This record gives sequence, C-alpha cells and structure tokens, in this order.
Amino acid sequence: MNIGIESIHMHIPAYALDLRELARARGVDYAKYRQGIGQEVMAVPPPDEDVVTMGANAARRALENVDPSAIRSVIFATESGIDQSKAAAIYVHKLLGLPSNCRTVEMKQACCSSTSALHFALASVALKPDQKVLVIAADVARYGLASAGEPTQGAGAVAMVVSANPRILALDSDVGYFTDDVMDFWRPNYRDEAMVDGKYSIKVYLNALENCWRNYVEATGASFGDFNHFCYHLPFSRMGLKAHLHLARMQKAGLSSRELQRQIEPSLAYNRLTGNAYTASLYLGLLSLLDQTPEDLSGSRVGFFSYGSGCMGAFFGGTVLPGYQDHLGVESRRRMLEGREMLSYDMYESFYAHTLPDNGGAYRTPRNRTGEFRLAGVKDHQRIYEAVPGHILSAEAGPKACAAAPVMG
Ligand code: CAA
Repeated sequence: MNIGIESIHMHIPAYALDLRELARARGVDYAKYRQGIGQEVMAVPPPDEDVVTMGANAARRALENVDPSAIRSVIFATESGIDQSKAAAIYVHKLLGLPSNCRTVEMKQACCSSTSALHFALASVALKPDQKVLVIAADVARYGLASAGEPTQGAGAVAMVVSANPRILALDSDVGYFTDDVMDFWRPNYRDEAMVDGKYSIKVYLNALENCWRNYVEATGASFGDFNHFCYHLPFSRMGLKAHLHLARMQKAGLSSRELQRQIEPSLAYNRLTGNAYTASLYLGLLSLLDQTPEDLSGSRVGFFSYGSGCMGAFFGGTVLPGYQDHLGVESRRRMLEGREMLSYDMYESFYAHTLPDNGGAYRTPRNRTGEFRLAGVKDHQRIYEAVPGHILSAEAGPKACAAAPVMG
C-alpha cells in the first residue's frame, strides 16, 4: 500500500521586504545576503496574520479536491504557537468547518515537528487506510532588529493531506533519526524573539545530518546515488547547499559541483524569496522542487533532511508519483509570490513592532491584505478570527465556504 501526500499547498504573507532595502538600512553589503546566505526577499506577516491564519489559508487550498469528511486528524506543527494550552489545530478546524469527530493536536520540536507530524500521520493511515490526516506546518521566524539572524527571518505555512491515495509523493516508512541536547537555538516562553548561537547552529545542523544519514543507511542500506534530488531544512538557502556538499563529501559521491547543485537548486527557489518558515521550510522546499523543475519528476527519488534545533534531525525518502503535476496548482503559488507588496524599511519596522494588547481589552487588528482568513482582533484574552468577506477564495468556494469564527461586537 502506498501512503503519502495526496495534496499540498502553501500560504505566505502578502507583504515582503527586499533584502536590498534591509542591507541599505543596516549598512551591509547586499552581496552578503544575496551570495553569502543566499537570500533575496523575506516574507513579513502583517498584524492580522499569525500561524493560525497562515495554516488555515494553506489548508483551505490543500483541501480543495479532498472530501473533508475523510479528515480524522488535524496535526498542527509550529514553534510560534499562539497559546500555551489550546492547539492551533482547533482554530483551523473551526475556520475550515471540518467534521467534529476529529482529533486536533499541536506539536513542537523546533523546525522538525512537521516531519514527526508527517510520520505520525503515515502510521495513522497505515492502521486505518480509509482515514486521512491534515498536517499543517506554520511559523513566523523572528530574531530581532539588527541581529545577525535578521536577514534570515521569514514566515509561511504548508498544509498536506496524508492518505492511502497519494497523488504527489509516496513516503517511505524508514527514517534515520538523531537527537542531542544542545543550545544552538531556543525561545524561552517570555520572549518573542529566538535566542541563537548562529555559527554553532550551523555546525550542529551538519552534525545532525551526518548522524541521521548514518542511521538511515544502517536501516535501509541506501546510498547517496539512490536519490535523484534532495530537500533540506532551509533556515536560509545557502544552508541547503552547504548541507548537500557536506553529505556528498562524506559519501565521496564523485559528482561535480554542477551536478550536486542541480540536485537541490530547484528546491531553494521559494526559500530565497520567503526566508525561514521554520516547520514549513522543508516542505516549501519540496513545493519549490516540484514547481520549479522543468522536467517530469515522476518516479524520482527524493531524500529529505529535517532539522530542528535543540536538537533533533530526521532523514527519509519518498518517490514522486506519476501525474503529480495535475494536482499541484503551481499557478496559484506564482500569483501569491508575484502579487506581494514590497514594504519600505519603515513599514517593515512598524509591522515588526506591532503587538497585541495583553490586558484582556477589546482590540481590532488593523485591516491589511491577507488570505481568506485573518486575525480580526482580541477580546477577553481570546484571539478572534474571521473569514474575509468577498475574498477571492471565498467566492471560488461558493456554498462550501467555511464558517467564520465569531467576530467581536
Ligand atoms: N559578499 C559575499 N559573501 C559574504 C560577504 C560579502 N560581502 N560578507 C560575508 N559573506 C559570507 C561569509 O563569508 C559567510 O559565508 P560562509 O558561510 O561560506 O562562511 C556568509 O556570508 C555569512 O556571513 P557571516 O557568517 O559573517 O554572517 P553572520 O555572522 O552575520 O551570521 C548566520 C550568519 C549565522 C547564518 C546568521 O544569519 C544567523 O544566526 N541566522 C539564524 C540561525 C540559523 O539560521 N542557523 C542555521 C542552522 S540552525 C537551523 O537550521 C534551525 C533554524 O531554522 C533556525
């Protein structure tokens, strides 16, 4: 039985900062961002966008041709959760009008909980092949103004339907794992910005890759040459390239640097234009690979490396399925990327500085461009979400449009 990704879609904020603008403001040579870390543009969420709205917007698209009554679990992976207790999955479940006989849960382990969510979904479908699982990964990567991590910020969400009727990618069940207690990147509960030891985090990432790969090879007997393409967790696109060259050197792959680059280049394109989206980043890379590779990838073997600081890693494989292009919806992602509004530096700072009140008072969030769902405000310490009236997706959905959460009076 094939189990894997039946449908996949992403959502990114409608605003972004060109890193040339950031380089000017910081007095940094733009070549450091463009060549040194491999980034051109970073996605910036407006005040009425958070992980719930991004996740719901991605999931709305991923569910377009899927019978929602088959969804028995919603697993929401994030490290930018909005509540210490209630799962973001419940808000999304309501916004999408999913059946009430459904399991809803949130998962955390830095950037790689999405991969555990995917593998839990795989196991769940193996037990009950008639049931489907909605996996959502959404994050806002936030480091601090003028910090070394600032040009690697970003935001985005990916939603995937995992089922026994995969149309995009069949997933293998073997995974190589590695866990080690290290402090390369973390975010205490009282902070909005991550703490990071940047140079150390790169070393730890590469060490986790080596160990995951070894564990994967022990379990499967696989070799580097078994994969046609690779997707890496992408905190910034140059990290993917560093990781791939590292693995190839370790394996004495004997490929030219041009051939190695060809194996990962298409997977880097979306990251360069959005920045880090933590849990969603690896799967934005998968979408990028599928959308940006001109040749037919049917039957191609893809190796995935998922990394979550702190740290845990996972290496696993999958096979692209024939006819995958018919189920991708590339055009809507092109429109999403090209239709973004580029912010001035001052607008970026004002979006960055926006905070929600924490005194329980009623507050309406300023209206900006969003997807179909937006954060309308807060009242009595509760976030209030709404479907945007007249949004293009609501119009397309017609009577299937989802019930909105109540908006405060
Ligand atoms: N022209 C071209 N290249 C230039 C340049 C210029 N003018 N100036 C510098 N560079 C190059 C440097 O040589 C360097 O290249 P190498 O990596 O090949 O040495 C690169 O640009 C970056 O320069 P620095 O190392 O000096 O940059 P920095 O000190 O400002 O920090 C960073 C870079 C560590 C990535 C920082 O942005 C950061 O801390 N980011 C957040 C943490 C992170 O993303 N870690 C990745 C692993 S952890 C993970 O993956 C989990 C996660 O999602 C966070």
